[in-house]
Amino acid sequence: MNADEMKKQAAWAALEYIKGDGIVGVGTGSTVNHFIDALATIKGRIEGAVSSSEASTKKMQELGIKVFDLNECNEIEVYVDGADEANSLLELVKGGGGALTREKIIAAASKQFVCIVDATKQVDILGKFPLPVEVIPMARSYVAREIVKLGGQPVYREGVITDNGNVILDVHGMDIMEPIKLEKTLNDIVGVVTNGLFAMRPADVLLVGSEDGTQTVH
Ligand code: 5RP
Repeated sequence: MNADEMKKQAAWAALEYIKGDGIVGVGTGSTVNHFIDALATIKGRIEGAVSSSEASTKKMQELGIKVFDLNECNEIEVYVDGADEANSLLELVKGGGGALTREKIIAAASKQFVCIVDATKQVDILGKFPLPVEVIPMARSYVAREIVKLGGQPVYREGVITDNGNVILDVHGMDIMEPIKLEKTLNDIVGVVTNGLFAMRPADVLLVGSEDGTQTVH
């Protein structure tokens, strides 16, 4: 079984968590694309979705899933999204696809966050995957210098503009021993919009697609 088959398995398993008939929070990425295919099979039973990216919005609309603006919605019951890394506390590194800010907003606005990954994403210590940081364009060099002071090596993701019109620095070389502390420290740098650590608001459930089926971690 390859990584994509494992992603698909975890994504389809997430359908079980869509219990009501309301609005579902939907993340971004190749794992979530499988989830959107799954969600389309129950589109008649749900009101619709809120989306964390233009890419997910486009795919959902093509499949006939109604997409709402988050400002039109109350609390979202369930948010389903992938991750680049997940530790045993369900703290995550996200943002490989550049959608971290909208993802973090929907995660914050949701009662339950179901994270779907393949087994290769499970780690003991976060940070091997370069940590994405979304930055206001004019602050890029300043923020990069501040990150170097924290011991990271920021690399500008060239040619990428986020859906919010910002740029991304991918921070290499960090063993993230205290994810909550680092998440707050990075947020405090002026010019940072969001960072890809989801530790203050971790996932509530992790569905891990593997050779042995989908494992559920709480
Ligand atoms: C996008 C994300 C994705 O959830 C993360 O990058 C995982 O992507 P994939 O499912 O393609 O492996 O955070 O911003």
